[in-house]
Amino acid sequence: MINGKFITLGIESSCDETSVAVVSEGRQILSNIIASQIKIHEIFGGVVPEIASRHHLKNINRVLEEALIEANVELKDVDLIGVTCGPGLVGALLIGIATAKAISYTHNIPLVGVNHIQGHICANYIQYKELEPPFLALIVSGGHTTLAKVEDYNKFQLLGRTRDDAVGEAFDKVARVLGLGYPGGPLIDQVAKTGDASAVFFKRVYLEKGSRDFSFSGIKTAVLNYLNAAKMKEEHIHVPDVAAAFQEAVMEVLVNKTLTTAKEEKLQKLALAGGVAANSRLRELMEEQCKKSGIELYYPDKILCTDNAAMIATAAYYNFKNEEQSNLYLDAYPNLSF
Ligand code: KG4
Ligand code: ZN
Repeated sequence: MINGKFITLGIESSCDETSVAVVSEGRQILSNIIASQIKIHEIFGGVVPEIASRHHLKNINRVLEEALIEANVELKDVDLIGVTCGPGLVGALLIGIATAKAISYTHNIPLVGVNHIQGHICANYIQYKELEPPFLALIVSGGHTTLAKVEDYNKFQLLGRTRDDAVGEAFDKVARVLGLGYPGGPLIDQVAKTGDASAVFFKRVYLEKGSRDFSFSGIKTAVLNYLNAAKMKEEHIHVPDVAAAFQEAVMEVLVNKTLTTAKEEKLQKLALAGGVAANSRLRELMEEQCKKSGIELYYPDKILCTDNAAMIATAAYYNFKNEEQSNLYLDAYPNLSF
């Protein structure tokens, strides 16, 4: 406690960001330090799990120290530790979990293991101090595409998910074949701004009637086929047009399915979360459609969309207030479902 305020320490290491945050009263960030490994994995065109684990190990103590200094908090002031326990890369998760357990044990602080997808949703509570459940959440990241009803702070109903690739994964793969680099999401977002989305048509994949699930592997192949056919015919490929057309096809499906679900479920509030929620076209289309449908739209600042520990601290805070607690047997769950 500091001046009567409940202090949560959050730790995130599920993929390629080592992050530690200090959050007051569940929603107020005192510090949120993020050490990104993007530069290290860039040369491989994607995250290499073993290299990610090693860098988490190298960085975690420094990031922890920095987070405490910036927040002007000592470990003795911390009331709760929240750590991502899945889904994610097993070796990467274990570094955060081992750190959290060590602090919990040595300083006698309660520990809560957090589902990374729940963490992404919670970024919205930090951004919007007044936001409360129930609402519909669309979580779109490099590893997940999930549509969920947030019934309460720690109660969720899964409504839809991808049957193959996650949206961010599709962006990263398409960016690679377009020669744009890694991570592909922000690069496609940028380059698409100068392209014409109607120059090429990629089929919108809605699956069977009424389905709330998604599929993005087909469009990835369609882009690849388009590029190969153009090369064979020695046609000029205008990368911004292809990027814009791909982005439009993906976002249109995401927006339409999400809005239909919100209406069917009679939910007046919609929150976006995860790395792809930083996408400017997704935000634009959602704004447009939500306005038409009278739905209130929420999305966090870009830095809170991608992986960070503040969102994990917030999730831990609400889980703990709802009587959830982990013990020192807490393990990493790479395929933890939602
Ligand atoms: O949430 P996140 O940091 O990590 C996971 O939990 O997966 O999301 C990373 C993903 C990457 O696939 C990245 O390409 C994508 O989010 N991303 C974007 C944008 N910024 C990040 N995708 C589309 N547009 C963006 N502006
Ligand atoms: Zn994530």
